[in-house]
Amino acid sequence: MKNYAIVLAAGKGTRMKTDLPKCAFPILKKPMIKYIHENIEKSVIDETLVVVGYQKEVLKDVLEDRVKYVVQEQQRGTGHAIMMCKEAMANKRGTTIIMLGDMPLIDAKVIDKVVNYHSDKDNDLTVLTTKYQQPKGYGRIIRNEYGNIEAIVEHNDCTFEQKKIKEVNTGIYVVKNHLLFKEIDKIQVNPRKQEYYLTDIVSIMKQAEYRVDAFELWDSEKVMGVNDLYSVSIAEKYLRNEINKMHMLNGVSIVTPETVTIGHNVTIENNVTIYPNTYITGDSVIKSGSKIGPNTEIHSSLIHNNVRVQHSLVFDSEIRSDATVGPFAHLRNGAVIGERNRIGNFVEIKKSIIGDDTKASHLAYIGDTTTGTGVNFGCGSITVNYDGINKHPTTIGDDVFIGCNTNLIAPVNIGDRVFIAAGSTVTKDVPAGALAIARNHQINKEDYSKNLITPKDDRK
Ligand code: UD1
Ligand code: CA
Repeated sequence: MKNYAIVLAAGKGTRMKTDLPKCAFPILKKPMIKYIHENIEKSVIDETLVVVGYQKEVLKDVLEDRVKYVVQEQQRGTGHAIMMCKEAMANKRGTTIIMLGDMPLIDAKVIDKVVNYHSDKDNDLTVLTTKYQQPKGYGRIIRNEYGNIEAIVEHNDCTFEQKKIKEVNTGIYVVKNHLLFKEIDKIQVNPRKQEYYLTDIVSIMKQAEYRVDAFELWDSEKVMGVNDLYSVSIAEKYLRNEINKMHMLNGVSIVTPETVTIGHNVTIENNVTIYPNTYITGDSVIKSGSKIGPNTEIHSSLIHNNVRVQHSLVFDSEIRSDATVGPFAHLRNGAVIGERNRIGNFVEIKKSIIGDDTKASHLAYIGDTTTGTGVNFGCGSITVNYDGINKHPTTIGDDVFIGCNTNLIAPVNIGDRVFIAAGSTVTKDVPAGALAIARNHQINKEDYSKNLITPKDDRK
């Protein structure tokens, strides 16, 4: 018999007060629903059905055709969402786990544990519960004098005494599929909220004398529900800590880890140090010996060994071994920085391949450029790659010295061992070994100030 999952993700997420449907909202740049789906994939579940409604296309764009969908046009409650699955599910024999689309911290092991518990006990319905010291907002688990689950009461429907109960409904239920769809229509609309509460299935099945049981989970943080932007921050904090911990145990030193965010697909070798306020995201790779940060963002970039990057932005780029970048450098769009380069203050490098042992230490823009090795870009060097319509390339040979405040008007080729005088605007190719001077001669007009400035004595 098969194991099915139904994930409820049709709601708007009113308490979020944002435009995106809640289950598509990103946690560490990944939509919430994706976490749930990835863990379902790793678990004993064979087939997944997702209930979508509010902005359904956004959720479908996330999960594409990896799951089946049912549409709940009007969101009339979690019970109503399950009623919408009748046509797709009612004739199936097997076990169904119902999950909510707003629990991004869920883990495949939890899914397996509760499904196995349910089958081992031969239960008809198993509710996954947990305890919170601050259970506000969650449905409370009502147990009878024998300790068996009787019902779930939503926070706002609880009596004063019931509100003191710490055991809550996680929103995960495991149920014999055919019984779920036999009983689901018995759920009545909640008079206060005018919604059909799935939680009522517990008392309904209990009254019909099915085997209804509760399974309590100890690691309660894994099933937290995200309802507003404050809980988004709590979920992110938890995940950030989990990822950082994994890297630290692998030999990555992270200074002030609560300020460091590392994405799920980042690879970091041991002997790397990450300093505060640093974001490393995408499929970035950081090799051994490198020191990254503080105040640095690295996205989808490859950082080789013993590189130092500080106070800088590095997007879709590569930095080769023993180079230093920053402070305040910006590498982007396919910049490749050669070994032992020195890329310093306020230098932007875009879509350029920079040879080994090159320096651009201060105030430069290098775009669409290929350089040889041992090049020195003086302060204020600019490759003028854009004529207002098209981008043009610059090539620079080995051991070139580019004087301060030089414009290289692209397309232009600079040969090996060229020396360019400071302040030049180079519009023509320069052959190897030449000195290029492309600036006006200086003229000094002596005593000029006399004609220009009114002598102090004549002022009124
Ligand atoms: C729900 C449970 C509560 C439990 C808590 C755990 C109910 C009535 N309450 O409350 O007992 O403690 O989760 O986190 O079930 N959804 C739909 N269609 C709808 C309504 C909701 O698909 O018509 C989806 C939402 O998109 C969401 C999920 O169901 O992903 C849960 O809805 P939400 O409004 O967050 O329920 P809670 O109030 O948190
Ligand atoms: Ca919720």
